[in-house]
Amino acid sequence: MSLRSDTEDKSVSRPVSVVDAMGRPLHDLRISLLDQCNLRCPYCMPEAEFHADYEFLKRQQRLTYDEILRVAAGASSLGVSKIRLTGGEPLLDKKICDLVERIVMLPGVDDLALTTNGMLLSLFAEKLAAAGLHRVTVSLDSIDKDIFRKMSGGRGDLRKVLAGIKAAEEAGLGPIKINVVVQKGVNDHAVLDLLEHFRGTGTIVRLIEFMDVGNRNGWQMNQVVPSHVLLESIQRRWAVRPVDQNYTGEVARRYEYVDGGGEIGFISSVTEPFCGDCSRARLSADGMLYTCLFANQGTDLRESLRNGADDDELRDILSSIWLQRADRYSELRRPEMAEHHVLRKVEMYRMGG
Ligand code: GTP
Ligand code: 5AD
Ligand code: SF4
Ligand code: SF4
Repeated sequence: MSLRSDTEDKSVSRPVSVVDAMGRPLHDLRISLLDQCNLRCPYCMPEAEFHADYEFLKRQQRLTYDEILRVAAGASSLGVSKIRLTGGEPLLDKKICDLVERIVMLPGVDDLALTTNGMLLSLFAEKLAAAGLHRVTVSLDSIDKDIFRKMSGGRGDLRKVLAGIKAAEEAGLGPIKINVVVQKGVNDHAVLDLLEHFRGTGTIVRLIEFMDVGNRNGWQMNQVVPSHVLLESIQRRWAVRPVDQNYTGEVARRYEYVDGGGEIGFISSVTEPFCGDCSRARLSADGMLYTCLFANQGTDLRESLRNGADDDELRDILSSIWLQRADRYSELRRPEMAEHHVLRKVEMYRMGG
């Protein structure tokens, strides 16, 4: 085992760091709380498939908060300092603030964030902040209400999302980040309007290349707008310049408006993969641990938890998964390999983006 211990004294429980087969540490845990969502973005949960009779996970199939806490504690003892709660839509879990309160107390966790579609955010913002959540990222694909409605499967209400963003800012959950999945011919022509809307507000817009996650979104390379194309059109409107990374492994490449209007990020996993620094593990709502967003298999932690694994055993399971990890899907996927859909991947709403 190549665990690097900060101490040889086993009675002192300081985190040990664990690195994978490619030398990447485990820093970041993303926890999907449930697989349900109140929107039906066609690239994620198309209405035709996720209709009224679709069977989402049942309560007993989902991890309990105690179980989530045990995994999170095990991960933090192996070096995880960043935790993100996701879904589906995590704010459909009405008791989420109880979980936030408990996760934020874990030793070593210094960044606790939430990804939401924002529809329920104005109801939760203050309570989340009071529970100790540090920051919020809102998925919002367009500031044009018709485009947004279409991209949310007819269910999104732009006014509610904007009210949610405002409430989160007022509650101190900023700087808020906005995740925009850009699809050619769908919302790319409206990206500048979205940037204009948030310019000067302190909210950071991040433009994400549409990815071939899961199996249902019918991804094709010609639907991707490469980040450099967006950057060029942004530069025709505003002067922007690159800014250094905040931390190693940051997924977004950062730019700022020269006039002080704030920051823009580009997440370019298709044209500029960032697997080399990827330090993220993902826990699904039913307790599967995945080491890549594009994984086709994971490890069932729920089974171990419910079969009585103690904390040391759980930690050994987590560290052995990470030690063997060699994922680098985005690097292996090349535009010319666009037909690279050999294996059935796990859906993103299941695994947590
Ligand atoms: P910050 O901590 O605020 O920098 O954000 P983050 O790294 O937690 O990013 P976030 O969860 O907001 O991710 C934004 C988007 O980047 C996701 O929705 C995905 O589309 C993409 N993304 C995040 N992590 C990965 C990853 O490991 N691989 C790939 N290919 N894409 C990722
Ligand atoms: N490509 C890129 N980003 C995606 N997301 C969901 N599906 C995709 C995709 N195919 C993003 C959502 C949200 C986060 C959870 O993942 O917009 O911001
Ligand atoms: Fe819901 Fe996010 Fe998927 Fe849209 S992308 S359906 S908001 S989980
Ligand atoms: Fe990490 Fe997999 Fe994304 Fe590469 S494709 S950055 S290994 S999650």
